[in-house]
Amino acid sequence: MTAPRVVLVGPPGSGKSTVARTLARLLRTDARDTDADVERTAGKPISEIFVDDGEPHFRMLEREAVAAALATHPGVLALGGGAVLDPTTEAALAQYGEAGGVVVFLDVSLAHAAPRVGFNQSRPLLLGNPRAQWQGLMERRRPVYERVATHVVQTDGRTPAQVAHQIAAAV
Ligand code: S3P
Repeated sequence: MTAPRVVLVGPPGSGKSTVARTLARLLRTDARDTDADVERTAGKPISEIFVDDGEPHFRMLEREAVAAALATHPGVLALGGGAVLDPTTEAALAQYGEAGGVVVFLDVSLAHAAPRVGFNQSRPLLLGNPRAQWQGLMERRRPVYERVATHVVQTDGRTPAQVAHQIAAAV
C-alpha cells in the first residue's frame, strides 16, 4: 500500500487542483485529482453524471476513486469538495492522518472562492444562486474539513503557488 504524501481538502474554489499541481512539482511527485478520476471512470463530465445518473451515483464513484487513490497514489491528491461528507471517506482520511499522513484543509472565504469557481455549469451543486449555495455548503462542511485536517492553510489573498510553497515547507 502506497499512501499519498499530501491530501488536499476544501470547498470548490479553494484552489485544490492548482495547488496540487504546483505542490507535486515542488515535491517532485505527481498530482492526482479525484474529480478527474471519476470523470475518466464514467466517461463523461461531472455535470453529465449528475444529470444522467444522479448525485448518489456520483458520490459512489467518488468514494471508490478516493479509496483507490488513498491506497495507491504516492503523490499529491486533491479530493472533490464534497468527498469528505462520505462517512467511509471520512474514516479513511482519519486513519491516514493517524498513520502520519498529511491532510491539508485549504480554507477560503466566499469573496476569494467566487472568482475561482466561476459560476458556470461545471459544478452542479452551485447552480441557481451560486453564492448562497457555496455559503451553505461551506457552513455544513467546515466542521468535517476541520475534523479530517492535520493542517489548515488560509488561502485568502495568496496565490496557489504561495500556498503550495507553504505546504511544501511544512511536510
Ligand atoms: C463538489 C465539488 C466538485 C465536484 C462536484 C461536487 C462538491 O469538486 O466534485 O461538482 O460537492 O462540492 P471541486 O471541489 O474540485 O470543485
